[in-house]
Amino acid sequence: SGATEVRSALLGWFAAQGRDLPWRLTGDDGRRDPYRVWVAEVLLQQTQVVRGRVYYERFLTAFPSVQALARAPQEAVLKAWEGCGYYARARNLHRAAGVMVEQGVPRTYEGWLALPGVGPYTAAAVASLAYGERRAVLDGNVRRVLSRLYAVSVPTDLWAQQAADALLDPDRPGAWNEAVMDLGATVCIPKSPRCGECPLPAHCQAFASGEPARYPAPKVR
Ligand code: ADE
Repeated sequence: SGATEVRSALLGWFAAQGRDLPWRLTGDDGRRDPYRVWVAEVLLQQTQVVRGRVYYERFLTAFPSVQALARAPQEAVLKAWEGCGYYARARNLHRAAGVMVEQGVPRTYEGWLALPGVGPYTAAAVASLAYGERRAVLDGNVRRVLSRLYAVSVPTDLWAQQAADALLDPDRPGAWNEAVMDLGATVCIPKSPRCGECPLPAHCQAFASGEPARYPAPKVR
């Protein structure tokens, strides 16, 4: 069914049911601080939202700005990252902060992608959430939602990115990306999806199949 209907149904749900998360704070101008978005997205790649919030608050208290992060000694950054695992991420945050203080904070997807430790997911998240650039994020939750919407058992990287790009709301790319992530994290969950709480049953081919949990197919190892 039409992308327009899917977008308005999911964005309506997100406005009512979206999670109130600390990195979603907007400034007086209604914008989000790219630094805060970046730290949150790097953190959330390895940590669940519930635990991530605590670490996020701790890290932001220690380093409230890109300048504060850049001038801190590496040991202090690693200390603030304790419990989050994957210390390479903390080292890359620190290195990238140094680059940004020297060269300025990038305002585009391509600019973010050039920073140490920033891959397509993080660049798309920052570009869309902080700058409103039309970039679709693709993570595990998004991939599962798309697999079910279109009843595609084996959502390859190429297919999933194309599906995500096509569905992205061009007027509200940031809200759209977070809406899909929230749906995947709270409703369209892996084992027993809560289709009774989903805003998209009329659009979902996995739901229509009667066995939504069969999508995506388990990975063959
Ligand atoms: N997981 C990763 N990034 C997220 C975000 N911005 N909102 C919700 N869940 C997320």
